[in-house]
Amino acid sequence: PKITFTDYDLHDRIVEATIDDSVMETAVRKGIPGIIGECGGSLSCATCHVFVDENDLALLPPMTEMEDEMLWGAAVDRQANSRLSCQLRVCDGVDLHVTTPETQV
Ligand code: FES
Repeated sequence: PKITFTDYDLHDRIVEATIDDSVMETAVRKGIPGIIGECGGSLSCATCHVFVDENDLALLPPMTEMEDEMLWGAAVDRQANSRLSCQLRVCDGVDLHVTTPETQV
């Protein structure tokens, strides 16, 4: 599956992702600059914050209470389409498009 990362300057980076990796892991592995993933995916940093394309929101698993809580601490204010990308698994046949915030710290 492909993941498109759009950065704050609206530059797109399209990468091939591995099934079962998280979107955060994919970004870190591919050197996407807008995602840090400091805590390694344990829901304790919020430096993996992304804005999910409206068309893709329905493809995602519901947010856990923990993710919801952590999102309030993100460096850039959360929006209705905010998610923590370490909680999003790459699924077979599901391409995703996310936009990274201006900063993660
Ligand atoms: Fe830390 Fe997602 S990587 S909360």
